[in-house]
Amino acid sequence: MTIDSDETQVRHFLDVDDLSEEELFAVLDRAAEYKRAVDAGEDHADLPGKTLGMLFQKASTRTRISFETGMTQLGGHAIFLGADDIQLGRGEPLKDTSRALSRYVDCVMARVFKHENVEVLAEYADVPVVNGLTDDAHPCQTLADLQTIREQFDGFSGVSATWIGDGNNVAQSFVLGCAMAGVELTVATPDEHAVDEGIIERAGELGTEPTTTTDPVAAVEDTDVVYTDVWVSMGQEDEREIRLRRFDGFQVNGELLAHAADPVVMHCLPAHRGEEITDAVLESDRSIVFDQAENRLHAQKALLAELLEGA
Ligand code: CP
Ligand code: NVA
Repeated sequence: MTIDSDETQVRHFLDVDDLSEEELFAVLDRAAEYKRAVDAGEDHADLPGKTLGMLFQKASTRTRISFETGMTQLGGHAIFLGADDIQLGRGEPLKDTSRALSRYVDCVMARVFKHENVEVLAEYADVPVVNGLTDDAHPCQTLADLQTIREQFDGFSGVSATWIGDGNNVAQSFVLGCAMAGVELTVATPDEHAVDEGIIERAGELGTEPTTTTDPVAAVEDTDVVYTDVWVSMGQEDEREIRLRRFDGFQVNGELLAHAADPVVMHCLPAHRGEEITDAVLESDRSIVFDQAENRLHAQKALLAELLEGA
């Protein structure tokens, strides 16, 4: 199956629910197949001659490298476009950047600050735009997270997960992804950093709303997955002090996990050891963070193939 598209409608991936449930599962199936192909050393050059433009306003290790490597493995090519290296950094409007890029590349992946900026890119692009992280969403991360959970538990049926910490970009896309995949989710955040109410409602429309709480201890009881992310995301450095105070008690550490049964621990990385998670937990046998990181490669290749083959 490829993602539906007709000549007038370009499909974008700005958040997880831009895919239907059927399309999401097709991406996850294909991601598993690509992982097997990579491990077996089998050729899978499904996008020969295709070029991905990768626009970055923020730093990245995993997103940049997995997209670029992925395009190489698919027989295509990727171009890194640091915002300050192109005319965007000198004030060229995004809508002009988007239209110019569309004349050269087959797909644009963008990591920007404001979520509206990927919406502008998508509005003006004639090629698919993929969200590589905004202040509000990180759907490519969620694809890899769902692939990782599916591998760990041999499916999603009966799996429960708990988000601990900031109701941020990674959390918000994870909320939508869990609703679509049928993972029962609890979200424990301080009041000031809860997941946006609109995202909770969207999750309800897609499947089931997560349970929300401010009590991390109660939230981890009986859960299969504990997932956290940094307390100070890119662009929030000025709020560091107040955030560290508000997240006191939300660290994923041995004491918190003592209240849980036997969960695996997830983190999108990069991690700030000693803040949202301890070194001991991150380095423990429970931690599956590098499986998540690896799956970025497989899941994004699957997304690109499904988007571009259908284009
Ligand atoms: N998880 C993630 O997106 O990592 P990078 O910021 O390194 O791309
Ligand atoms: N929430 C983090 C995720 C980094 C991948 C940030 O936005 O900085």
